[in-house]
Amino acid sequence: MLSVFTAVLGSLQFGYNIGVINAPQKMEYNATWVHRYGVPIPAGTLTSLWSLAVAIFSIGGMLSSFCVGFLSEWLGRRKAMLLNNSFAFIGGSLMGLSKLCRSFEMMILGRFIIGVYCGLASGLTPMYVGEISPTSLRGALGTLHQLAIVTGILIAQILGLEALLGSEELWPVLLGVTVVPTVLQMSLLPFCPESPRFLYIVRCQEHQAKRGLRRLTGRQEVGDMLAEMKEEKRKMDMERKVSILELFRSPLYRQPIIISILLQLSQQLSGINAIFYYSTSIFMKAGVQSPVYATIGAGVVNCAFTVVSLFLIERMGRRTLHMLGLGGMCICAIIMTMALALLDSIPWMSYVSMLSIFGFVAFFEVGPGPIPWFFVAELFSQGPRPAAMAVAGCSNWTANFIIGMCFQYVANLCGPYVFLIFAALLLFFLIFTFFRVPETRGKTFDQIATNFHQHTARGMMDMDIDLDLDKPSTELDYLGEDN
Ligand code: GLC
Repeated sequence: MLSVFTAVLGSLQFGYNIGVINAPQKMEYNATWVHRYGVPIPAGTLTSLWSLAVAIFSIGGMLSSFCVGFLSEWLGRRKAMLLNNSFAFIGGSLMGLSKLCRSFEMMILGRFIIGVYCGLASGLTPMYVGEISPTSLRGALGTLHQLAIVTGILIAQILGLEALLGSEELWPVLLGVTVVPTVLQMSLLPFCPESPRFLYIVRCQEHQAKRGLRRLTGRQEVGDMLAEMKEEKRKMDMERKVSILELFRSPLYRQPIIISILLQLSQQLSGINAIFYYSTSIFMKAGVQSPVYATIGAGVVNCAFTVVSLFLIERMGRRTLHMLGLGGMCICAIIMTMALALLDSIPWMSYVSMLSIFGFVAFFEVGPGPIPWFFVAELFSQGPRPAAMAVAGCSNWTANFIIGMCFQYVANLCGPYVFLIFAALLLFFLIFTFFRVPETRGKTFDQIATNFHQHTARGMMDMDIDLDLDKPSTELDYLGEDN
């Protein structure tokens, strides 16, 4: 519990920095401009500088998520997390001191560096948590990454209220608060064991791995877990080292990497951040009376349904929940569009649109929110995992950036019909999940990888025999295909 808690402090910061950007006052740029040049800032420059501060966060994330593989192999999972904290520290301090130094350059640079931190955290945390979790709890503990993200978003939304830290004088404090979890994580990490899988399978340190396993499980006898790792190591030693290019070239990894990328895209292109980045203006357009509080309401729904997912994930499985989430979001997006289109003629449609936005967020957290993050770590064994996490993380951040940049322009073009685009994308991802995504619940990493290998071998030999006939149908990989 201590190790998982410590790791997800990184996710908490990730969420905090997604949520916090709505609050700070753009006017501060104006004060700086007047102080420097003696004239008010032109409106166009203000918008550009502000958009830059918002978007540069995702650029930092895009670049750094690509380095997750390399860093986690070079330093190990734990030391990589420890080192990453220095980015949070520098980024948080730059943003926190930007007002004092009257420098929007510091604010923009700070957002970039905190983005670098978040990009690394979004890969390192699920990797570490996935590797130290017992198989039967891997999904539930994996969901804690997302729970910490949404808690971070909610804390930022609440602290960002004008009556708290969202005021003109206090917003630097709001941005600087992000160093608090950093300090906490830095002081707790030395008490957490390094991932035993990494120690044993990658570093061949059996003794240290055993010690880590004993500390994590509280048991003296860890032979069964070690035996499972031995099997994974034996197979890994037979393969070549897996680079990012190799993931796409090798028929063994092509299927799982495509699934990983598409799951990340299903998370971001669902349109969730269109809600989280622009919720206040969406609620305003929908005629909701207190848009700021409706935004916080969405944050509360977001947290509550992540908890629901946490309890359902080991019972219903990843695949079912992901499909349920995508389907529910698709329906909510259609209802939302109808409500927004009818708003002028039927006033109570504002309630319908607000409820459909809440529903959209709730369904997101049932599946598409938490599952893609930890699913990638599940689909790959120790060898290809770091490279796969880097590719998946980078796809997620790129899609996040595209939505952040383009949504408002597309929304201006399409008016109330903008969410129909997301509905169509959601339907596509639902169909893809049905036909292509396997169930991983209750399987060891080795079993999951073996199932993929069997399928590849089967595909290559073009044989029409089902290697998984002894399993119950819900546990079959590529369910749709096998049925
Ligand atoms: C996921 C997404 C993130 C989004 C959040 C909303 O963690 O990766 O982009 O803002 O969910 O809850």
